[in-house]
Amino acid sequence: VSLPVAPAGGDVTHVLSDPSFGRLKAAIIDATGMAFYQDKSGDLAHIVKARMGEVAIADCGAYLDRIQSDSAEMDALVAELTIGETYFFRHKEQFDALRELILPDVIARNQDTRRLRIWSAGCATGPEPYSVSIMLEREFGHRIQDWHVSILGTDINQKFLTRARDGRYDHWAFRTTPPDVLERCFTKIGNQWQINPSYKRHVTFQYHNLIGGRFPSIVENIAGFDIIICRNVIIYFSAETIEGLIPQFRESLNTEGWLVMGHAEPNQVLFREFRTVNRPGAVLYQRTENLPPAPLPPPSVPAPISLPIKTSLAVTPPLPVRPRRPAPAPLPPSSPPPKPSAATVPAQGIATIRDLADRGEWERAAQACQAQLAVTPLDPWAHFYRAMIHEQVGEGEACEQALRRAIYLDRKLVLPHYHLGLFLLRKDDAQGAVKAFRNVLALLADLPDDQPVCDTDAVTAGHVREAVTVHLKLVGGPSA
Ligand SMILES: C[S@@+](CC[C@H](N)C(=O)[O-])C[C@H]1O[C@@H](n2cnc3c(N)ncnc32)[C@H](O)[C@@H]1O
Repeated sequence: VSLPVAPAGGDVTHVLSDPSFGRLKAAIIDATGMAFYQDKSGDLAHIVKARMGEVAIADCGAYLDRIQSDSAEMDALVAELTIGETYFFRHKEQFDALRELILPDVIARNQDTRRLRIWSAGCATGPEPYSVSIMLEREFGHRIQDWHVSILGTDINQKFLTRARDGRYDHWAFRTTPPDVLERCFTKIGNQWQINPSYKRHVTFQYHNLIGGRFPSIVENIAGFDIIICRNVIIYFSAETIEGLIPQFRESLNTEGWLVMGHAEPNQVLFREFRTVNRPGAVLYQRTENLPPAPLPPPSVPAPISLPIKTSLAVTPPLPVRPRRPAPAPLPPSSPPPKPSAATVPAQGIATIRDLADRGEWERAAQACQAQLAVTPLDPWAHFYRAMIHEQVGEGEACEQALRRAIYLDRKLVLPHYHLGLFLLRKDDAQGAVKAFRNVLALLADLPDDQPVCDTDAVTAGHVREAVTVHLKLVGGPSA
């Protein structure tokens, strides 16, 4: 396990002897999962000292307060703490297993739905999801033409995500890439290589903290995967954290979906709920439903982890926290006046729809939506979840219609505006997206950061405000 390059030199005795250093260290490990720093106080102290110097804070207690109240500073610290060692086609044997076993299996099973959903969790600067995209396009392209393919890369380090979206790499990132792949799939720009657009089109990147983020969650776009790849990430976590994560990965997979962990991370006990498949140089795990009970003791349930930073939501490079605006801007008068809010508090039916969708059971979730809409056709949450399901199965037009209907029925619901903004961004309608995002900010103006904006408390006003502020900045629109 490698260390990030510690800021050069300097004496950290005063950081290590600060009475609040222990609390600060515990909070950082809780928030990021990086138990790796448990017995590396010196290295952590170097990183913390450098950050405290940047923000002119002299003691650990004050710095702890700062990262707990300022997610931009937490992001800056995370950027220094995390280790982004990665390269294209890392560990060839696992890519061989993807090519020879996993992708053919999933493609054969998904012939009816013509969909493919892959998650690279802890993707760093992107070579892992892009390698999958290249393999899919080059070796399976003819079999999945017109399929709805989605490859999602997530990470806790916003700087890595920005570089991943850029898709430019130094030569060192290709140390195990066949030369013909480099020549054909990348364009040389100066000293770097830029991935060609056809290998980028199915790949999206999104902030997600594996520790704080509750998943599966359709609202956060983390659900219903055919393949999850999480390599060289959990090596930094504690045994308790890992025990909690593996069932979450399992729940985020479709039945018979595959989990690919780092090649040095096989563990019979941890993965006992999966079918284990051994390939030369690779151990793979498949979600099955009818395994005989494992003869091993159940895992201990980890203690809940307190989370001083945001959970997951969409693509958000770090930004300074802005002061909240004093009053909400009026919503543009383009849609009809709001109808009475039939379902701001969603019924049990909505919880069922969400649960099914979180498990990736799109068809059943869609049926539950239909049933709900037959009873309460004016329920904006039912239309919202309908939209989320349409989106997951690649029905863009229907997704947009359902989002607009949800907004029409209750213009005060934040998430439909937010997802409409994301949808319009993907359609390159920057103007429409800016309008939707400004509506979000107006609706959020008076809400405290910890106010839930979803029918569960998983997504808060603070998360959405930050995400939208960043999106507005990225598309060049004013955020206020
Ligand atoms: C060594 S890289 C692995 C990259 C890639 N999966 C590979 O194997 O080539 C580990 C990545 O895990 C990310 N990471 C660490 N803690 C995380 C967390 N709590 N949630 C999400 N990602 C995390 C780091 O930011 C880093 O990018």
